[in-house]
Amino acid sequence: MKMIKKIAALKKEIKALRQKHKTIGFVPTMGALHAGHVKLIRCARKQNSIVIVSIFVNPAQFGPAEDFKKYPRTLLNDAAVCRKEGVDIIFSPSVAQMYPSVRGTYVTVEGLSNVLCGAGRPGHFRGVATVVTKLMNIVEPDTMYLGQKDAQQAAVVKRMARDLFISGKIRVIPTVRQKNGLALSSRNAYLSEKEKNDAASLYQSLMLAQKLVKSGLNDAGLIIRRMKGLLAKFKSVKIDYVSVLDAQTFIPLKKAKRGCLVALAARVGKTRLIDNIVIPKSSL
Ligand code: PAF
Repeated sequence: MKMIKKIAALKKEIKALRQKHKTIGFVPTMGALHAGHVKLIRCARKQNSIVIVSIFVNPAQFGPAEDFKKYPRTLLNDAAVCRKEGVDIIFSPSVAQMYPSVRGTYVTVEGLSNVLCGAGRPGHFRGVATVVTKLMNIVEPDTMYLGQKDAQQAAVVKRMARDLFISGKIRVIPTVRQKNGLALSSRNAYLSEKEKNDAASLYQSLMLAQKLVKSGLNDAGLIIRRMKGLLAKFKSVKIDYVSVLDAQTFIPLKKAKRGCLVALAARVGKTRLIDNIVIPKSSL
């Protein structure tokens, strides 16, 4: 496994791989790798001859009062995980490499970036779309792998790639959860044991929504109220949003239906967590 820090060196490596007709699977990450990332890496490993993982804590996607400084940086451990999973190249550039200009170029995906998480985190998706554009231009992957937990991020990135004619498939891989339902996230590292238990209520509320839709209830307002009622039982949980949406357009729905997205964000203690499910289309 190679660890590459410079863009020029990675491009040279990729050019040589392309000459040998290798296919490239790419997993962009901010490190602090967990079983969710491992699932993405395994999909990439299965489907491509070469797997590249980027590890870059992207300052452009953090607001001024957010956790950029304290975001877990565990490069040695991440490298061990990647080696074990058969990753070929880790790309871990510096901020100066990725953002060479003081007043640089940014990519904004209109509309989609301003709702849900975008409403509470202005500039977040501009930072994500910008860094993923840069990474896709550097790596030029055949397929890039993202997690369903960040459903809005996946939608923003897909729209960006479509609108900017960036080639390469984007595959969205199902969320990996703890036994209690808590979606794996690098930010779970901030939670106390009690908060980890309380945070399972996020998934419980999503399961409640699924059960209600299955039972024939389709009033999205009522479903949201029932979910909020469940979450309100946990003192450490402060809801940011709960929403029932069209899974493609992210437009809020009045009537929930199979195939729709139920998404939420909440603070558990001081940690902001997100989660979502797509209500299965077939019989549950
Ligand atoms: O999901 C993440 O870890 C990040 O948002 C990403 C896609 C690597 C961009 O920095």
